[in-house]
Amino acid sequence: MTQAYKVVDHTYDVIVVGAGGAGLRATLGMASQNLKTACITKVFPTRSHTVAAQGGVSAALDNMGDGDNWRFHMYDTVKGSDWLGDQDAIEYMCRNAIPAVIELEHMGVPFSRTEDGKIYQRPFGGHTINFGDEMAKRACAAADRTGHAILHTLYQQALKHKAEFFNEYFALDLIMDDEGVCRGVVAWNLEDGTLHRFSAHLVVLATGGYGRAYFSCTSAHTCTGDGNAMILRAGLPLQDMEFVQFHPTGIYGAGCLITEGARGEGGYLTNSTGERFMERYAPTAKDLASRDVVSRAITIEINEGRGVGPNKDYIELHLEHIDPAVLHERLPGISETARIFSGVDVTKKPIPVLPTVHYNMGGIPTNHFGEVLNSTDENPEQIAHGLMAIGEAACVSVHGANRLGTNSLLDLIVFGRAAAIRAKEIITKDKKLKPLRTKDGEATIAKFDRLRHANGSLKTADIRLDMQRTMQTHCAVFRTKEHLEAGAKKINEITASYKDIKLNDRSMIWNSDLVEALELENLLQQSVVTIQSALNRTESRGAHAREDYPDRDDKKWMKHTVGRLEKDKVSFSYRPVHLYTLSPEVEVIPPKKRVY
Ligand code: FUM
Repeated sequence: MTQAYKVVDHTYDVIVVGAGGAGLRATLGMASQNLKTACITKVFPTRSHTVAAQGGVSAALDNMGDGDNWRFHMYDTVKGSDWLGDQDAIEYMCRNAIPAVIELEHMGVPFSRTEDGKIYQRPFGGHTINFGDEMAKRACAAADRTGHAILHTLYQQALKHKAEFFNEYFALDLIMDDEGVCRGVVAWNLEDGTLHRFSAHLVVLATGGYGRAYFSCTSAHTCTGDGNAMILRAGLPLQDMEFVQFHPTGIYGAGCLITEGARGEGGYLTNSTGERFMERYAPTAKDLASRDVVSRAITIEINEGRGVGPNKDYIELHLEHIDPAVLHERLPGISETARIFSGVDVTKKPIPVLPTVHYNMGGIPTNHFGEVLNSTDENPEQIAHGLMAIGEAACVSVHGANRLGTNSLLDLIVFGRAAAIRAKEIITKDKKLKPLRTKDGEATIAKFDRLRHANGSLKTADIRLDMQRTMQTHCAVFRTKEHLEAGAKKINEITASYKDIKLNDRSMIWNSDLVEALELENLLQQSVVTIQSALNRTESRGAHAREDYPDRDDKKWMKHTVGRLEKDKVSFSYRPVHLYTLSPEVEVIPPKKRVY
């Protein structure tokens, strides 16, 4: 089968798959250490989804004089994670946040500024001073286009360091050897239709999340978790997939993100009676409670009949009391988004909003160096050699059961940098690169060929819509056994229906029909693991709210879910949460009830 296709071979020290914030930070870090580095990306780098990140990147710089400190940041992150985050990794991220953001500033990221020229910082959900006493100003912002500013700067830096880019290449599968070591990647060049085998010491997956498994999400259409699915097909596990974050303020109907920074600048939510209901749910943090708390509160308000509008199915976000000059300077992006997608002039009227899928806490298990783990019950920290994962694709786990806003951009740059440092150490020690075998990639290409010629009766778009509606209905903000079981059954049926898919375009060049079918397979595999993981975890923690198990159960469930997929069936093992720190400079934060 392979002979029917032109296959081009390449050899590098490192292949980075994905060119969002994590992929680019790793790419430039590798290239700047003289590692021969190629970045493969299915969209042009500056179109990666990081470009859509709005409110900021967290670092306890204390530029606003509130006495912030990385230990407070660590405390907030552990609490935000509902004690599922690994405390060694969280320590690493929070203390490295400060040099990482200063490094971005020096690279040229155009941050907003305070009167005295420092990086501007705003309050965000769950960010506090002094272990919960008052709200912190920790989110370093470039207006409400922080991801855009960071992504463009990182791309320029990667080019400056002579990294090579393979733009608009779709990664199909990992190349694994018989010892379970990753040797490279098979990819399809969308522009000229050629197939490629990239061989390398290390493959770094920076392929982002899989928000598009859901009907309403803030994620770009490209967010299909391709790296996560490649991991599953390689027989490796994904971790904590039940934890799907809903952002409280997606625009009603369109799902586009309205940054939490809007509430950081003084915005607030009301229900149909005009009540600022968050005061009831989170008396101290109110509208700036952690996002899982706010999303649940909104859902309860709507479910109990206090939603706004003719169908009582949304909540209102008010910004009209804020000085228009502040809105213009600090929130220009969402002012425009609100006008385009809901017809609202934010200086005059509230924005209709609804919780919308935003982030996957789960993903590819790694240690805090970015090395992928092939976790088993017997050996939970076992390394899968030749593989790294970073960014939203990875589960380090710094976000645990619920990520704090602005810790995502931070995760990208801190662990992108950490992966580059680790890669240099690994590759310096291990200089020999085994050549690829003729058979490497053959099964992938044969499967690709079958899909390209698939002639069943179902359209990709119809199967995808079924999956998205099922996930939205059955694996939502609140979950129950009955609902999840019904959802799992439907997802299994939808997965089976994929075998009857029909493609209309058989070409190799810019075949978006085939791209979408490949992405759908990836989404389906992750949906199966997500819904089964949600069914399996019989407690409530962070973003996973089981109405039938309303309490957190630390005795039974303070552990990471490790899920593998074989023949569409999911099996589980568990990995202990790291209740230890890296240094004696900070103590373990013991579990307690999470209130805001
Ligand atoms: O609300 C926001 O600006 C989103 C930030 C984040 O998800 O980190």
